[in-house]
Amino acid sequence: MAGIRINGLNKFYGDTQALFDVSLDIADGEFVVFVGPSGCGKSTLLRCLAGLEAADAGAISIDGRDVTHAEPVDRDLAMVFQSYALYPHMSVRANMDFGMKVNGLAADAREKRIVEAARILQLEDYLDRKPSQLSGGQRQRVAIGRAIVKDPKVFLFDEPLSNLDAKLRVQMRVELEGLHKQLAATMIYVTHDQVEAMTMADKIVVLNGGRVEQVGTPMELYHTPNSRFVAEFIGSPAMNVFVPGAGLGDLVLDPAAAFIGCRPEHFELVARGTGHADATVKVKEQLGGESLLYLGMDGGTDVVARVDGDDVTDVGQNIGLRIPENRLHQFDTSGRALQ
Ligand SMILES: Nc1ncnc2c1ncn2[C@@H]1O[C@H](COP(=O)(O)OP(=O)(O)O)[C@@H](O)[C@H]1O
Ligand SMILES: [Mg+2]
Repeated sequence: MAGIRINGLNKFYGDTQALFDVSLDIADGEFVVFVGPSGCGKSTLLRCLAGLEAADAGAISIDGRDVTHAEPVDRDLAMVFQSYALYPHMSVRANMDFGMKVNGLAADAREKRIVEAARILQLEDYLDRKPSQLSGGQRQRVAIGRAIVKDPKVFLFDEPLSNLDAKLRVQMRVELEGLHKQLAATMIYVTHDQVEAMTMADKIVVLNGGRVEQVGTPMELYHTPNSRFVAEFIGSPAMNVFVPGAGLGDLVLDPAAAFIGCRPEHFELVARGTGHADATVKVKEQLGGESLLYLGMDGGTDVVARVDGDDVTDVGQNIGLRIPENRLHQFDTSGRALQ
């Protein structure tokens, strides 16, 4: 069990700066997700934590111990990659055994850990198979098993579910959450998928261009994003953000508001002329439990509204839109949220 403190981390690859002054506290036993678009520095930050990359400035401590210059093996953490990185010629058992063997653990202790990891991951019946004889989900479980048997202080996951199909991803997400509860270990999970971040994290760290954009619980980021970047990154479909203009009725705006935002699920559909804007339904996507309405506001801006699956509003209909005051987001010209 271990808390982690990252202080002022900077990382360059040649002339490219990948991390800018990253500081972060991660509590013991926390499930933390680093999320952001491709290239924002998620893997670099994780690899610096693991000791696979050396930071150019800053410090990292794990469990109160400064590990900034420690070798990966001396950091007491285990990493699981998207690519599984299993040894193809070795059985599942041998794959899990390998690291422990190298570390000189006794045979009976190793076997005990393998059996326990196989039980947790439901791999008992597959211990003698080769990776090529397993499904993608089973292979990823073996990769996780190999991390579990190391009994690390911290688990690091770099987009571990990206190679799996959508259904299996959801299943593995639930399994990983269960694993986190069961092991009560500190876990850091990297993904570009905001749904994974929202569903799994105790705490989300949003990275943008090598900088920490915002840190918070999933619901904090959803309700009070501190920038337009976070507002549009968290939530699907994304928050509607548009320039306040004519036709927005009696909305009271901050004088500094350059952009306003409303999530698709927060628009209220009202009679034409009685809301903050009037709009026409251009497209309706019925998803069953809910429908998405693609609306053209009279001012020319297109927005998306999410309504109940039973809602009968249809294409061509003219409607009014209301933005409840507590659902209105406002941003200044630089994209900072105005509270
Ligand atoms: N080994 C490397 N050499 C040079 N540039 C790299 C290397 N690894 C990553 N980068 C650059 O650092 C930035 C962050 O990359 P990365 O941490 O892999 O992003 P992410 O995991 O969020 O997609 C990107 O601009 C990427 O091109
Ligand atoms: Mg990456």
